[in-house]
Amino acid sequence: MKMLEPSADELLDWGDSVIQLMANYFGELRDRRVYRQMSSGEIRDGLDTALPRKGIRFDELLKIFRENIVPFSRQNAHPRMFGYVQSPGTPLAAFADLLASTLNANLTVWRSAPAPVELERLTIDWIRQILGFNAEAGGLFVSGGSMANFAAIAAARQAKDSSPGRLRIYASNETHFSVSKAAALLGIGRENVRYVAVDERFKMQTDDLVAKITADLKAGYVPFCVVANAGTVNTGAVDPLTEIREVADRFQLWMHVDGSYGAFAILAESARKLFAGMERADSIALDPHKWLYLPVDVGCVIYREPEIARAAFAHEAEYTRIIGQEADEAFAFWDYGPELSRRFRALKVWMLLKGVGLDSLGAAIESNLACACYLESMVQASDDFEMVAPVELSIFCFRHVPAQLRNGSSAAIDAFNERLLIALQRDGSSYLSNATLGGRFALRGCVLNYRTTLRDMEILLDDLRRVGRSLPTPN
Ligand SMILES: Cc1ncc(COP(=O)(O)O)c(C=O)c1O
Repeated sequence: MKMLEPSADELLDWGDSVIQLMANYFGELRDRRVYRQMSSGEIRDGLDTALPRKGIRFDELLKIFRENIVPFSRQNAHPRMFGYVQSPGTPLAAFADLLASTLNANLTVWRSAPAPVELERLTIDWIRQILGFNAEAGGLFVSGGSMANFAAIAAARQAKDSSPGRLRIYASNETHFSVSKAAALLGIGRENVRYVAVDERFKMQTDDLVAKITADLKAGYVPFCVVANAGTVNTGAVDPLTEIREVADRFQLWMHVDGSYGAFAILAESARKLFAGMERADSIALDPHKWLYLPVDVGCVIYREPEIARAAFAHEAEYTRIIGQEADEAFAFWDYGPELSRRFRALKVWMLLKGVGLDSLGAAIESNLACACYLESMVQASDDFEMVAPVELSIFCFRHVPAQLRNGSSAAIDAFNERLLIALQRDGSSYLSNATLGGRFALRGCVLNYRTTLRDMEILLDDLRRVGRSLPTPN
C-alpha cells in the first residue's frame, strides 16, 4: 500500500526528487524550445498504454513525467510564449496547489472547510477592492473565464426572470465565444446574442448598441443584458465602460464585464483609467489564471448583488440542507455558482496576493504593457513589419511584410504570414498565435509573463525574420 500511503521518509524522498525536477525545469526554461514539432502517435508510443494491473515505483512515474511528458508539452512558462492568453504559472502557486491537494479541502459550504472558505471569502473581497466594487459585492472562484461568464449570465437572466418573450443579450463582435456558448447552454439561444459593431480600435460602438436594443424592443424582444469587454481576446480592446453603463441604465439591462484577460491590468497605474466605470458593472468575470500569472484553473466571478445570483443557483435538497447554524457559518458556495464540490483554488490566489503583494504584481503587469508597446514601436519603425491593430494592453497584432511582398496582394501577405506562423511555432524559439481582423490574417501575441523582457520582444522579431527567410520566396 506504500504508493497509497508512503512513510514519512518515503514522502521526503519523493519530495526531494520532485523539487529537484522543478528546480531543473525552471533553471533551464530559457534554453528550452517553447514548442516542437510532434505527433500524437509519437507521444502515445512513448507511453506504456497497457491497463496497469500492478503499480510501479514513484521514481519510475517521475521518469515518465520527465522524459515523456515535459518535452512533449508546450512550455507555457517560457518568456517568449506569446500565444493565446496563457499564464506562466509560478512556483509559489505550484506549492499552493500541492498543499491544497494535501489538505484536500472541499469548499462546498463553510462547515465542510471552515478556514479554506474564510480564505476564499477574504481573497474574493481583496479582488472586489482591487476592482473598486461596492462593499456588498461578492462572488467565488470558478474554473475559468468561460465558467465565470456562464455564472454571471445565469444571474443576469434571473434578474429578468419574470419577463415573458425572447431574451436578448448584447456584446461587441470581438467578444469571446464563451458568451454565446453560455447563452446556448442557458437556453437563451446563440441567435439571441446580438453582436454590436466596433470602431477602428475594436471597441464597442454604443450608438449601434442603442440602435440594436431599440429595434429589438420594437420587435417585441426582451433585452436583458449587455456584455462589455475589459480586454478583448483578439486585440485587448477595452470597451467604453462608462457609456455602456449609461445605456444599461437607460434600458434597465444587466451590465456584465468580461475582464477575463484584462481586468487585473487595473493594478498597473498606466492602464487604470481605461477601466473607469468597471466598478459599476452588475457582474464581472476575471481570471487569476491569466493576468495574476497563476496556473490553471482559477477564474472568478463577482456579483454586485450576490443575492440575485443566489436566486439563480440556490437549490434546496435535503442532503445539502444546513441545520442550526448562524448566517456566516451557514454560507454555501453552491448557492452562488454552478459547482458543488470545489477544490481549494483560493489558496494559490491568497499565497500570491499575500506573498508577492499588489505593488510587485502591478509592476510586473506594467512591464508586460511596456513590452507590448515596445514591440509596437519597433514594428512601426521597421520597413518589414506592420501593425494590424493598435496596442491597448499587452496584446499585439501585426504581420511580416518582407521586401519581396511589399507590392503583393493582401491574399499573398495573409498566406505568407500563415505559413510563417506555423514555421515559427515549429522552430520553437518564440510562440505566437493568430487573429483575423477586418478579414486580414494577423500574427497575434500576448505578453502575460513576469519573465518577459524588452530583449525578448527583439528576439521575437529576429526569430520571425530568420524563420521567414527559410520559407519559399513568396510571389
Ligand atoms: C476575453 C476572454 N474571455 C473569456 C475567456 C475564457 O477564459 P477561460 O479559458 O479561462 O475559460 C478568455 C480566454 O482567453 C478571454 O480572453
